[in-house]
Amino acid sequence: MARGELVKKLLLSYGHEDEFRAVVEQIIAEEEKKNNRVLSRALRKTLDNLKSGSQTKALNRLIPFPDEANDYIQRIEPTHSPNDIILTDENIELFQGLEEEFRRSEMIKRHGLPIRSKLLFCGPPGTGKTLCSEIFAAQLGLPLFYVKLDSLISSFLGETASNIRKTFEFARRQPCVLFFDEFDALARSREEGNDHSELRRVVNSLLIFIDQIQPGGFIIAATNMDAHLDAAIWRRFDEVIWFDNPDEPMMKKYLNNAFKNTSIEFDPEKFILNLKGYSYAELERVCTQAIKATLLNRRKKILRKDFKDAISNAERRKKRLNRLSDK
Ligand SMILES: Nc1ncnc2c1ncn2[C@@H]1O[C@H](COP(=O)(O)OP(=O)(O)O)[C@@H](O)[C@H]1O
Ligand SMILES: [Mg+2]
Repeated sequence: MARGELVKKLLLSYGHEDEFRAVVEQIIAEEEKKNNRVLSRALRKTLDNLKSGSQTKALNRLIPFPDEANDYIQRIEPTHSPNDIILTDENIELFQGLEEEFRRSEMIKRHGLPIRSKLLFCGPPGTGKTLCSEIFAAQLGLPLFYVKLDSLISSFLGETASNIRKTFEFARRQPCVLFFDEFDALARSREEGNDHSELRRVVNSLLIFIDQIQPGGFIIAATNMDAHLDAAIWRRFDEVIWFDNPDEPMMKKYLNNAFKNTSIEFDPEKFILNLKGYSYAELERVCTQAIKATLLNRRKKILRKDFKDAISNAERRKKRLNRLSDK
């Protein structure tokens, strides 16, 4: 951006700390690009020393991503809290470890050790991969950015490489969680040997970027199908975290949590056998439907019938969908 434009933006940001910092970050980036290292370092030092009004260090320096990137990167505002997700003890421990490492990263880096920052989430749909990224980012005070891979890639293949570069450059400078959903779609295109050589090149360059980047926060890739991922993909991630459909004890936990603020006239645990094989997302739909039926009938308590009806409806839907996917 021309310098005049930046100065104008800087003046307009007067009084808005986040915006001000974002513009200064842009100026520093421009100077870096022009190889004016002394000036960019001095600016960085001054910016870092400015007293900040808000608490979270990570959020203070929000760098705007390039306007063109709006098509394929989306900022997600967190709406859930850790109480909203049911995780296995193993995963709870894993995330606590990752958080601890991130919070104390300065100390770990001083000892010359790497931080685990590239995560692969595997598991069937509706098991909380997206939800967990949101909660994880919010817990760490990091903004969450969702990369729409299909838009990133299908834009103009010629531009894809530069889109990928910009995305990673952004994640390197901006402490954030950068979330790539449906990563398997990419992996498959790599594997299937289709003769779209440009697409394959793009996929490979994405993998190389993941390999090389030291993100300021985290890169998370999510996939529904771990079987489709080859070793070349696994090894690029510092940690692989599996999400599964709930087993009986986890289902109990989920149901009790879902109804903790409502009064019910039945024991939801009695329905566990009817709900075998349901994902968390499907369980959520059943519980929500039952609660809504109660509200619509102006009742205070959820009846057994409300819950049973909601399950029958979910069954109907599941049967139909299974038939479709068998075809
Ligand atoms: N582990 C979980 N605990 C509680 N709710 C969940 C869980 N997994 C999924 N859900 C519910 O299902 C919805 C969709 O889940 P999502 O995170 O999008 O699944 P995925 O990304 O694995 O396909 C969530 O918004 C949440 O309401
Ligand atoms: Mg998802």
